[in-house]
Amino acid sequence: MYSIDKKTKNLPIGIFDSGIGGLTVAKSIFNLLPNEKVIYLGDTARLPYGTKSKETVILYSIECLKFLIKKKVKLIVVACNTASSVAVPFLKKITKIPILGVITPGAKAAVEKTKNNKIGVIGTVRTIKSKSYLKEIRKFNNKLKIFSQPCSLFVQLAEDGWIDNKIAYLTAETYLTILKKEKIDTLILGCTHYPVLKKTIGKVMGKKVTLIDSGEETAKEVKSVLERNNLLTNRKRKGIHKFYVTDFPSNFKAISERFLGKKIAKVEKIKLQ
Ligand code: DGL
Repeated sequence: MYSIDKKTKNLPIGIFDSGIGGLTVAKSIFNLLPNEKVIYLGDTARLPYGTKSKETVILYSIECLKFLIKKKVKLIVVACNTASSVAVPFLKKITKIPILGVITPGAKAAVEKTKNNKIGVIGTVRTIKSKSYLKEIRKFNNKLKIFSQPCSLFVQLAEDGWIDNKIAYLTAETYLTILKKEKIDTLILGCTHYPVLKKTIGKVMGKKVTLIDSGEETAKEVKSVLERNNLLTNRKRKGIHKFYVTDFPSNFKAISERFLGKKIAKVEKIKLQ
């Protein structure tokens, strides 16, 4: 049973993702809330989630959630756009701990930013098929025009570090030309990996298009939920960050810098039940 007392404030924030991409969300949370302790879980053994069925993503997400509950966290961030798109309502039935996905904050920011009422959304196949961003945007404003495009290859490009070379540019151009033709003025980067390709995506879309990083928007929402619930830590020093993965900790460590902006010293491999 979840109950808030004085100690709850200083419990860690739990974050999970299908793998390494969620570090882009974690980075924004670390920057905005440096004194918070954080536990990060990357389900690297079962990555990617974006090409899997809704049922499978829900099942995997429940297992990640249960791991974080056992770690006694005060709030859980579903950093993965794919898991946020399909699993959050199911996760909320399991625990009273506040759970935040990345879809609502990203959608809200896009609605606030657009001037010509044309928003683009890019994400994994599962995220786009779920229409999660479209449904959220419609809740804020049902008159906006929304254009969606899955960009599966961006995930591998980001992981391999091919982020501003010819291949990255051509891939972005091929995926995004259709959105450019629709003259969108706001584009939601609806996948954890896409902020890593921000420069290339920006080059293709042009300066007039605002890129929305769902991770940054989610970090602001995390802060405001903690504030509203009187759950912000009163620690005066920097919070400790712990990283867990379900496979390949060495690989996670090696490419962490690209996603987090700094190398991770220690990553522990765990088994999900
Ligand atoms: N984390 C996923 C997302 O944001 C991208 C990688 C995957 O497909 O698992 O949708």
